[in-house]
Amino acid sequence: MDLPHVSAALGVIHPICIARGRNAEVWDEADQRYIDFIGGIGVLNLGHSHPAVVEAVKAQVETLMHSAFNALPHRGYLAVTEALNQFVPVSYPLSCMLTNSGAEATENALKVARGVTGRQAVIAFDDAFHGRTLAALNLNGKVKPYKSGLGALPGPVYHLPFPSRDSGVTAEQALTALERLFDVEIPVDEVASIIVEPIQGEGGFRLLCPKFAKVLRDVCDKHNIVLICDEIQSGFGRTGQRFGFTHLGIEPDLLLMGKSMAAGLPLAAVVGRRELMDALPKGALGGTYSGNAVACAAALAVMDAMQEDALSAWSDAQEAAIVSAYQRWKASERFPMVGAMTGIGAMRGIVFEDTENATGAEHLANLLAAGRDAGVLLMPSGRKRNVLRLLPPLTTEPEIMAEGLGLIEQALETLKA
Ligand SMILES: Cc1ncc(COP(=O)(O)O)c(C=O)c1O
Repeated sequence: MDLPHVSAALGVIHPICIARGRNAEVWDEADQRYIDFIGGIGVLNLGHSHPAVVEAVKAQVETLMHSAFNALPHRGYLAVTEALNQFVPVSYPLSCMLTNSGAEATENALKVARGVTGRQAVIAFDDAFHGRTLAALNLNGKVKPYKSGLGALPGPVYHLPFPSRDSGVTAEQALTALERLFDVEIPVDEVASIIVEPIQGEGGFRLLCPKFAKVLRDVCDKHNIVLICDEIQSGFGRTGQRFGFTHLGIEPDLLLMGKSMAAGLPLAAVVGRRELMDALPKGALGGTYSGNAVACAAALAVMDAMQEDALSAWSDAQEAAIVSAYQRWKASERFPMVGAMTGIGAMRGIVFEDTENATGAEHLANLLAAGRDAGVLLMPSGRKRNVLRLLPPLTTEPEIMAEGLGLIEQALETLKA
């Protein structure tokens, strides 16, 4: 694909240009149809152009497109923050700020943690992903392509192994690493925050070990450290719950959300305990476009559509379809490169293993191309780019889901063991 005016530093996975979409289907400029299992990398849990979102956006565009909230508040921003207070399952009343992107939410959460604690250090995890801006990218647990060639980044940041049944790292190993960190690298009372994805996205759809989540909660409580859960990819229903932290039996102090929050319009948020969110001086948080009125209207329609029972029904159906296809592929022994399944609910990954002919990453790259030829769009993840992450809209019709999984199977047939 020829991209003469686009920076070569933007990686493009699929060399096609899409023109329109409806729920889990997209059409390119030549009107070729594809089933979209990428979903805008987790943005489209409600699919392309969900009718309720389209209607809310149209009505908002005709009423008020924008007001810079810091200068002149508007109803949409207030309504979203009020709705979040109901929508986010924590025991305390929330205070929120809206941002334009996930990375901006990450950056602002770091500011809040610094402001509250008067400390600077952050503990993050191997294979984590928190964004591409300077402070956010230093939290990422992967050097290439995020940190290479950029020099000193805002810190200090320390990384721990991510304990998960999906990573093979145990809670005990991570705890040993945490104790070592406090003995060798940094005193615990100099740590401002610990940031963790309850289910890693870019890292390969890996569920944080619940036992270790409780360790993190205890350490943060004991030492007045701010626990930040980044649910920018796992939130808004992907795991069958509104947010993934509910699978872990803990509550974060600050929660980051974005992506599916506004079904495709740019909106993200930092939400959390009022005493933390109020710590910085007036004017320290904000932004010209953040909490844009049209994006807020979309977010309100999303929260309305994501009632708990609807979410679990969608997620259960999708999980059942994905898991049974995976089990069929695995049991058939025709695809020796198909390794373990990762994740929880509808947030599922499939690890591709090395075989005689190719590495797992090569197999997955070949699968992506073969899938595209067959008519299904797929996305990799993982430090080695060998984990297929499946992100179809939760609202995907059962027959389209079955068709998409069938096309993946067709693409698997083309791989050479
Ligand atoms: C867990 C997580 N945090 C943060 C981000 C950054 O979000 P954005 O791309 O909106 O800046 C992402 C994006 O993939 C993400 O998955």
